[in-house]
Amino acid sequence: MRVLVTGGAGFIGSHVSRVLVEQGHGVTVLDNLWRGRRELVPEQAALVQADLADEAATEEALRGHDAVIHLAGYLEVAVSVQKPVEFTENNVVNSVRLLEAMRRAGVGKIVFSSSACVYGVPERLPLREDDPLGMQANPYGATKVAVETFLGVYHQLYDFDCVALRYFNPYGPNELCDPETHAVPNIVRAALERRPIPLYWKGEQVRDYIYVEDLARAHIAPLGARGFQVYNVGTEVGTKVIDVVETVFRILGYRVPIDDLGERPGDVAASYASSEKIARELGWRAEVDLEEGLRRTIEHYRQRLGIRE
Ligand SMILES: NC(=O)c1ccc[n+]([C@@H]2O[C@H](COP(=O)([O-])OP(=O)(O)OC[C@H]3O[C@@H](n4cnc5c(N)ncnc54)[C@H](O)[C@@H]3O)[C@@H](O)[C@H]2O)c1
Repeated sequence: MRVLVTGGAGFIGSHVSRVLVEQGHGVTVLDNLWRGRRELVPEQAALVQADLADEAATEEALRGHDAVIHLAGYLEVAVSVQKPVEFTENNVVNSVRLLEAMRRAGVGKIVFSSSACVYGVPERLPLREDDPLGMQANPYGATKVAVETFLGVYHQLYDFDCVALRYFNPYGPNELCDPETHAVPNIVRAALERRPIPLYWKGEQVRDYIYVEDLARAHIAPLGARGFQVYNVGTEVGTKVIDVVETVFRILGYRVPIDDLGERPGDVAASYASSEKIARELGWRAEVDLEEGLRRTIEHYRQRLGIRE
């Protein structure tokens, strides 16, 4: 298949592009390199440096492709609260621009990176795809719900095959946020640099940490799916943040102090997936457990930060 990956020079998109190449697919990465990095794009993939706001460039890049994997967008929740219009423009309006460009270019298949945040505060755990969408506490979550809704529209109007993958908590090599807002890279970096680890809620929050290579693999099987489908992508294991910290200490063989940041309003206390649907229908399941994933992540940051053992 020939697949165009938007945001393919970013954290998750670069892993998706590599897995596609490894499995013999033709890959074009479309990324404006706002955050993405050229060197993360696999050599065998073509890179089109363009912004999704440029409808003509997107349409031109799409020609001859069979499917799109759409990861481009903004993802810092706090920024979404500060700049809701800019955020919605990039995440929602540019997604609709992409769908329109696909329609014009005759590409009718899309896999979208959605998020477990669409469920809001879970009414029960594990979260299943038929659980109701919850109230959103910030514009970021609202943009994910909006794009999922537009996928449904393009399926109804134009018979697009659409898949929304609801990621739980991805982690692993190549996370690019600066300042970093996600727990795992913050924990790993602080521990490697022997600084105190910043922790909200004393680390009692429960999350479902999915290693990025497992997550990347989950994008391939849906390329053959028909209709409009939604799948959770998680490990089905709920882990307290403090247990991530303890696992990192165990791997490193030393401890650093905790910087107690208190409580953060709006945070969900616990969230983890049922990934039974994607296992049953597409044969995907997570393979890398937290300890192994953290080992690989630590090794990556050791090299990136130039810290010897
Ligand atoms: N990282 C997570 O924890 C997480 C969790 C759930 C969902 N997601 C979703 O996964 C997707 C990828 O996230 P990531 O962590 O890899 O982020 P990232 O910032 O590393 O990658 C996003 C990429 O999109 C590019 N981009 C942004 N706007 C663009 C535009 N208008 N035109 C072209 N390129 C553009 C950036 O340059 C970047 O390379 C996002 O949609 C995000 O919301 C991420």
